[in-house]
This record gives sequence, C-alpha cells and structure tokens, in this order.
Amino acid sequence: MKTIKEGIKQDKFKVKTHVDKNWLDIEIQFVLKKIDENLEVFKEKVPPAASKDLMYIPEGNTDWTASFWIGMLYLAYEYTGEEKYLDVIKVQLESFKNRLKENIQLETHDIGFLYSLSCVAGYEVLGDETAKETAIKAADKLITRYHKEAKILQAWGDLSDPEQRGRMIIDCNMNLPLLYFASKETGDRKYYDIAVNHAEQAAKYIVREDSSTYHTYYMDTETGKPLYGKTAQGYTDQSCWARGQAWGVYGFVLSYVHTGDRKFLDISERLAHYFLNRLPEEDDICYWDLDFTEGNEERDSSAAAIIACGLLELSKHLPVSNEYRELYENAAIKMIKSLAENYTTKNVHSNGILLHAVYSKPGDNGVDECCIWGDYYYFEALIRTVMSWKMYW
Ligand code: GLY
Repeated sequence: MKTIKEGIKQDKFKVKTHVDKNWLDIEIQFVLKKIDENLEVFKEKVPPAASKDLMYIPEGNTDWTASFWIGMLYLAYEYTGEEKYLDVIKVQLESFKNRLKENIQLETHDIGFLYSLSCVAGYEVLGDETAKETAIKAADKLITRYHKEAKILQAWGDLSDPEQRGRMIIDCNMNLPLLYFASKETGDRKYYDIAVNHAEQAAKYIVREDSSTYHTYYMDTETGKPLYGKTAQGYTDQSCWARGQAWGVYGFVLSYVHTGDRKFLDISERLAHYFLNRLPEEDDICYWDLDFTEGNEERDSSAAAIIACGLLELSKHLPVSNEYRELYENAAIKMIKSLAENYTTKNVHSNGILLHAVYSKPGDNGVDECCIWGDYYYFEALIRTVMSWKMYW
C-alpha cells in the first residue's frame, strides 16, 4: 500500500535553527546532576515507568522500562568518562543477565528495549563478552514470539492468550535492533529475517494510507490474514497515538540502518511529516494523541523526545538533495529547546528529568508525570547534538 507523504505545513521548521553549544552543555550538566542525585538510590533498584507526584519510587528489575536507567548511565559514562557511572552500570548489568537467566517477566516483545540498552550497550561500550552472549540469548527468547504465518512478533502476553494472540504494535519497531544485532554477531540470518518480516508487516498494516499509525493491529495467526487495528493507549481506534507515531519514525529508520532498505527510510519520513503537521503552534510539543492539536488535553513530552532522536537519525541518512533533510534537524533542535525551556524539572521537586509525559491516558496511568523513557530519550537527543555517538539500537 502506498501511503501519503504530506508537505510540511509549518514554515518555521524550514528556518535553520541555531545550535548553541554552550546552552547544550548547560542542559547536559543539568541532566548529569539529576543522574548523580539518583546514583545511590538506583544502584540495585530502577526507576519505575512513571513517577507518582513527580517522584520515581525505586522498584526491582521487572518491568519493560527497567533498561532506560542503565541506558542513561551509559550515555553519562560515554560523555564524561567518569568511573562513578561504571560502578552502577556493572551492578545493573548483572541484574539484566540474572533477569534473563531467571526468566523474570519476559513474556513481552520489549525484550528488545530491555536488552539493547543493557547488554548490547554493555558489549558496544565496554566490550563485555558475557553481555554480548546475554543479548544473543535475549534475541533467542524474543523470536519465540514470532508467528510464522502472520510474520509478526506478538507484542504482549502468552502466545495462546486469545486477547493478545497475533497482536503486533508500532512500538515493536524499536525492539527489532536486538535481532539485527544477534544476526550480525552470530552470522545466523534467522533473527534478521524475522525482524525484516515484522517491519514489513508493520509497514503494510500498522501504517495507514494517510501515514498515521494504529497503535496495535491483529493478524490471524493461522491464515496470516490481516484482521483489524485497535488502540491501547491512544484516544480512539482510528486516532493516532503520538508516542506510537514517534516510535514508528525512529523504529523504521532503525530498520533502514540495519538493512539498507530505503523503503523503511521513506516510511519514517512519511510518518514524521504526519507528526510534524500536528504539533501545537506555540511550543511544538505534541499532545498525547495527534488527534489533538489545541485545547486542554495533556502533552506527551516523552513522544517529543523520542521523535527528536528519530529525526536526528533520519536526517543523517538522507542525501543533501533531499528537500527535508535539514528541516528534520531543525524540527528536532526546536523540540529539544522547547523541552529544555518549559518541560524539565529544573524548578520543581522531582527525581525525574522531563515533566508532562503521559504513559497511558485511557489507563489513567502516569498522566502528566515523568516517564523514564522520556528522560532517557531526552538525554539521548542532547548527546546526539554534542558528540558523535554510536547508537545502542
Ligand atoms: N512501549 C510502551 C509505551 O510506549 O507506552
């Protein structure tokens, strides 16, 4: 199915955004200070998915979000070279190796998020061989969720659960890099083939004709036939959940990076245009669902941080003749600036970093709170602007 590539409505994204290195360094120092304040509390424990009254209450390594903290520690270590981050990384890394060994709450496609940011990064940044082995074993676990006929990885729950069987979700594109990594390191194509098949099915069925996305989509696992789209965290089944669209922009460009297939780059662009055309005029930070472009609904700062990273990655891979290449970079910088100016915890009592994220509005969970992935992607976006950084994805 060919999807629409909208033109970009907002002229301001066409204007080159000044990148002030001093300002970025100050912002990074703020993030580092927040991380430093948390080092002791989150040595063995991790921050939960979302804060309560802007405070992260420490918990064990059991949720899908447990790796965003160690991801931030790697970024801090790479930026500063300081041992204090390494000390906590080592404790956290052991916990991820143990989680896989003990099979603790891993009936989820988010094994990708969990093991890219913990063990792939552990191998890439520290050269830790057992982290590499663990990442490959995690990939082995992830591919047990693959439905051969439907050619998709099931997102949630037990494979026989009738509620969840054959359900894929847009977020999963961010879990595929673990499979690309496993193929690269083992020389076994099976992980790569599954990742590509899934990305292609997502492109075909999750992406709508207008380049918006369903949050989730059901496939018939016996016949492989597409069934229907349904939201989980969006406003309605037909609306476009902002964070899902952001996962799509970043996730599809990652499939391009690992496969070289330009179709994925093109889809990432189309999704980005849809997203950029639905931002509130005043500060470019999306509402939690892109059906809302004004009014009193909550924003989702975490979606803005994710798409900023996606746009920066996207612009890196486009030829100079691409008319939007610089625009993507401008839009990303504008959003990072907007987040820095009005969406951080600088003047608020909180152990989080980014205010005004929404985990799940329909679930009334983490609404207008800090979300740990928002903090992570905000930091990743900042790091991307100041150093040449090799992705953990
Ligand atoms: N991947 C789950 C979420 O974005 O809430």
